[in-house]
Amino acid sequence: MKITEENIGSAGDLSAINELVSKCERCALYKTKTKDVPGVGNENAEVMFIGEAPGKDEDLQGEPFVGRAGQLLTELIEGLGWQRKDVYIANVLKHRPPDNRDPKPEEAEVCWPYLKKQIELIDPKLIVFLGRHAMNRFFPTLQISKSHGNAFRKDFNGRKQVFLALYHPAVALYNGGMKETLQTDFNKIPKIIKKIDEENADNNDNKQEQQKLI
Ligand code: URA
Repeated sequence: MKITEENIGSAGDLSAINELVSKCERCALYKTKTKDVPGVGNENAEVMFIGEAPGKDEDLQGEPFVGRAGQLLTELIEGLGWQRKDVYIANVLKHRPPDNRDPKPEEAEVCWPYLKKQIELIDPKLIVFLGRHAMNRFFPTLQISKSHGNAFRKDFNGRKQVFLALYHPAVALYNGGMKETLQTDFNKIPKIIKKIDEENADNNDNKQEQQKLI
């Protein structure tokens, strides 16, 4: 089936996206995949994590971040008192690049409408990039060494979206210093959500004030 950007754009929910991903031939990765890895978690998640692409374990299980890096991500999520089912976890690519090679720009390009639509449907308060590849897909000029751990707001999908970039858990697995930095940055997530809630409450108060004035 030829899946167009319009087909993806008109998906009504996440299961419709998953269905399209299962039939997707927009790039050649479907030929070598074992399972589809569209994403997992809560359609109403406040926090959405975005990695690069499924690896071997993810391809076998059909779920993002289930290998060693995934175990670290799960520990970090649980360290906040949350569970994986409370958040949403996805990747830039929905099928595994063979031998874990980097995604090709044309693969990321044709897969992009799926991620954009997932973000639109979930409408998370916070998008967390896991590593520089995910971050650079959205913001090509940012450097992870400078941007990690600092939440920032940018226009995206027609709204002011808050983003946070983190080092990729796979990098942290082999570097104790990075792991500590990842942990420190990760622990900022609840505070960032609280700040977003406070700002939203302020905006609502202001709107009510304005309505009163009118
Ligand atoms: N690394 C990623 O970027 N994504 C996964 O799903 C697993 C490892």
